[in-house]
Amino acid sequence: MFSELKQLPADPILGLSIKFKADPNPNKIDLGAGVYKDEAGHTPVLACVKTAEKYRTENETSKAYLGQAGSPLFNEKMNALMLGEHRVIAENRIRTVSTPGGTGALRIAGEFINTCKPGATIWASNPTWANHPGVFKAAGLNVRTYPYYDHENKCIDFAAMLEVLKQVSQDDAVLFHACCHNPSGMDLNPEQWQQVADLAKEIGFTPVVDMAYQGFGQDLDADAYGLRLLADRVDQMIICSSCSKNFGLYRERIGACSIIGASASAADIINSVLLSVVRTNYSMPPAHGAAIVETILSSDELTDQWHGELKEMRDRINGMRQLLVDKLVANGVERDFGFITAQNGMFSFLGIDKDQVQRLQDEYSIYIVGSSRISIAGISPDNVDYLSQSIAKVL
Ligand code: LMR
Repeated sequence: MFSELKQLPADPILGLSIKFKADPNPNKIDLGAGVYKDEAGHTPVLACVKTAEKYRTENETSKAYLGQAGSPLFNEKMNALMLGEHRVIAENRIRTVSTPGGTGALRIAGEFINTCKPGATIWASNPTWANHPGVFKAAGLNVRTYPYYDHENKCIDFAAMLEVLKQVSQDDAVLFHACCHNPSGMDLNPEQWQQVADLAKEIGFTPVVDMAYQGFGQDLDADAYGLRLLADRVDQMIICSSCSKNFGLYRERIGACSIIGASASAADIINSVLLSVVRTNYSMPPAHGAAIVETILSSDELTDQWHGELKEMRDRINGMRQLLVDKLVANGVERDFGFITAQNGMFSFLGIDKDQVQRLQDEYSIYIVGSSRISIAGISPDNVDYLSQSIAKVL
């Protein structure tokens, strides 16, 4: 049975981490996967998480199954985090299941769409997170793209994006990044979100919003602006969220898939299908990450502490954006990299070609994704000089 298998290349993002770990160069820099690092290059466990874990080990009374939706308290807290005091919650139109990470949420969303309309088309931005097409194709969907990032002018080609979205059918799904667009770092502004929401309403396509970085852009509420607006305008939509980045819970694999229906009774039907999709995938989600998040969000004190720690991560990344741009100038780079400071979240495209990306890796042990996406979170005051000098050399 296995004899026909062919060797596959390593994952374009995760494969870099493996190469980085094996590299003996003491100056090596990992700007690959979107994982937060502090100034010392370490991915810390947040203090609020440590406290919540301690509370959990002391108070947990059972390991019995939680069911396909996972913890109802976690799901309720996630709804409030994503939507605030949105009317879809009061109207009882949202159903949420906790999932193994944001990717688990995306896969469940894909399977759910495929159950509604087998082989349906989902439109994703060009470019999008490298794993999006694979996840949706694996769920049976047809993946198409709409224009998004204009590499030459370092901005969103919004006119081209709208032009293509106008041709989308009512039976299609359209994937949006709520904030901190991965990989470009370029987000829609409120007016652009308005136009997208108007179009979604007019055509009736189903928005699927991937919110993997809430709190890493401007703040928790501003980052959910587009998502909340869409939820206001359309009757039905899907939200896939992740606690990997904002709670630093990467390896715990905790996220949520939320589906909004046109009415409370429609949402009940949706929920029955959602639960069955989960049951045939992984039966039910892991509990530990959800327990940490619900403990934090149920305590004013821990929530305040989390807000502080999240802000610290966000501010450090933004500080590194400015520092990198300054250091590139200081190291004699003439090309304008100022656009990096105007972008949000963990990523930016450097806009260098594939050979230059490869030279950074081979000659300087600097690991970035082939598209020239850099994870700003891997930059620190200690490595930024070496990084900018190396970029200057390959340019
Ligand atoms: C990334 O885009 O680097 C992160 O979301 C990590 C991953 O799983 O790819």
